[in-house]
Amino acid sequence: MLRTHTCGELNDRNIGKDAVLCGWVGGRRDHGSLIFIDIRDGYGITQVVFNPKSDANLHKKAEELRSEFVIRVGGRVERRPSGTENAKLPTGQIELHAATLEVLNKAATPPFEIADDALVTEESRLKYRYLDLRRPAMQRSMRLRHKVCKSARDYFDARNFVEVETPVLTKSTPEGARDYLVPSRVNPGMFYALPQSPQLFKQILMVSSFDRYFQIAKCFRDEDLRADRQPEFTQFDIEMSFVSEEDIYEMSEGLMKKLFKDALGYELKTPFPRLKYAESMARYGCDKPDIRFGLELAEITDIVKDSRFKIFKDAVAKRGKVIAVNAKGCASYSRGQIDELIEFVKTYGAKGLANFKCEAGKLISQIDKFFSAEELDAVKAALNASDGDMIFIVADSKKIAYDSMAALRKLLGNKLGLIDQKRFEFLWVTDFPLFQYDEEEKRWVSEHHPFTSVHPDDLEMLREGRELDRVRSRSYDLVINGAEIGSGSIRIHDRDMQELIFRTIGISAEEARMRFGFLLDAFAFGAPPHGGIAFGLDRLMTFFLGCDSIRDVIAFPKTQKAFCPMTSAPSPVDEKQLNELSIRIKK
Ligand code: AMO
Repeated sequence: MLRTHTCGELNDRNIGKDAVLCGWVGGRRDHGSLIFIDIRDGYGITQVVFNPKSDANLHKKAEELRSEFVIRVGGRVERRPSGTENAKLPTGQIELHAATLEVLNKAATPPFEIADDALVTEESRLKYRYLDLRRPAMQRSMRLRHKVCKSARDYFDARNFVEVETPVLTKSTPEGARDYLVPSRVNPGMFYALPQSPQLFKQILMVSSFDRYFQIAKCFRDEDLRADRQPEFTQFDIEMSFVSEEDIYEMSEGLMKKLFKDALGYELKTPFPRLKYAESMARYGCDKPDIRFGLELAEITDIVKDSRFKIFKDAVAKRGKVIAVNAKGCASYSRGQIDELIEFVKTYGAKGLANFKCEAGKLISQIDKFFSAEELDAVKAALNASDGDMIFIVADSKKIAYDSMAALRKLLGNKLGLIDQKRFEFLWVTDFPLFQYDEEEKRWVSEHHPFTSVHPDDLEMLREGRELDRVRSRSYDLVINGAEIGSGSIRIHDRDMQELIFRTIGISAEEARMRFGFLLDAFAFGAPPHGGIAFGLDRLMTFFLGCDSIRDVIAFPKTQKAFCPMTSAPSPVDEKQLNELSIRIKK
């Protein structure tokens, strides 16, 4: 190596010894005749001092140094003068008194300062990602990501899991998003699809008797991007044979325990609590509740269905729901504060937000005249309201009422300071519906994916094709602090059942053959009962690092428009390439 130590390594144990460091020039400060340089690499920062009295030529050379020059500097490690130590840096007790300096490479002036607190747009960070990745926060992020992958691999290896790579050029694996397609040159007019997940292959590996599979797998989904979604992302993908839900829960909890311990030194308590989907919706209005705080919702549809308040009555008549939350101690909210909440729920499609104050044992509101005393008392009791509380209510379609109230609950939880940011609350949400009705396509679609087993108690409903919205599945999600980080199910391993599911979601026998014939064929040759789960590694990393966006835990992410500002991908291709692929672009 050109160096004896990294820039994060020297401390008071090295005082009096010689060292040689290599790295990039960070900050530079001139104090009188002394020049101080921060030399930075991926491990840390060390202060280097150039003293003209020790070596005038070297000092002159140091004057030429600019930000981000790559240098090699040797000298003696000395204790920093008293009062100039930096307790925030592991190297903050010492400095290197330079005796040699070599410029290994010059650098153009960087477009932004390489520091965690530099003011820089995300577009610029992504365009110059190689510079952004030099920042200490990004170094930490990538290095911890590596550690987490290693820790997961060790966990699986110790439990006899086998890592198998599944193809990236493949056929569509439906997970509810659009596919990325890749044209085949040697088969004109034909396309591969990039996998939305390795779902079909991992199930086929079960048929092949790899009863414990895992993969750190890249998945590709062409969907609308948000802070927690990227078009390509990574899963810890897992499948096991001869298992029930309990085995998957136990394996997953062990994995989370190890990852949180290794990444954060955080001791998780297992087993994680469980909540059935229906109860999660009723209590929190969503299937991924943040259970670090209460503020549970209450459905008051039955209480107010005969009231004289037209908005509530209309919603009930259209089979909607009336959902309420008790904002404890918020009776003193001003008109302005309430208007802000009304505008907030409107962004979720709600038409308005009714409010009732609790004062002198009664509910008071501009609209209280539309309700009988019994109705008001029943609402008060349902929400356990006492003086000083404020009840907020949305009446709308089931979806809008739940979506807006779940979001309001979260907002209030934050506003009222009810959320302990240091805590991790895990929750299994189970028994999801097997199907949901797609209004646009006017057909039933799978809630998870079409390979999920039906809940044994709802088998008859499925066979008879009745009350499909009430048919439950053997699926489960793992939720941390209100974010879904994993999802899986016990699978169908019976060919007839798989065909029944395809028929129910409107996939004809012919289409099923064309799209999933290989899976159905495999199932004819002795498929074991099996199940699995996949965890979003990127989302997990945001928890370990406390970042808001998964773009901060991915080395080279895409923007919200699925664009890479550094490489300018996607980009046009030349005519010749298109011709080879038998593709013409529609203008
Ligand atoms: P699912 O589609 O729920 O299940 O994905 C599993 C987990 O992957 C993460 N995830 C994402 N992360 C970043 N960007 C995205 N666009 C994105 N989409 C999903 C989430 C999610 O919980 N094959 C099934 C798993 C199984 O049944 O075993 C699957 O992929 O954290």
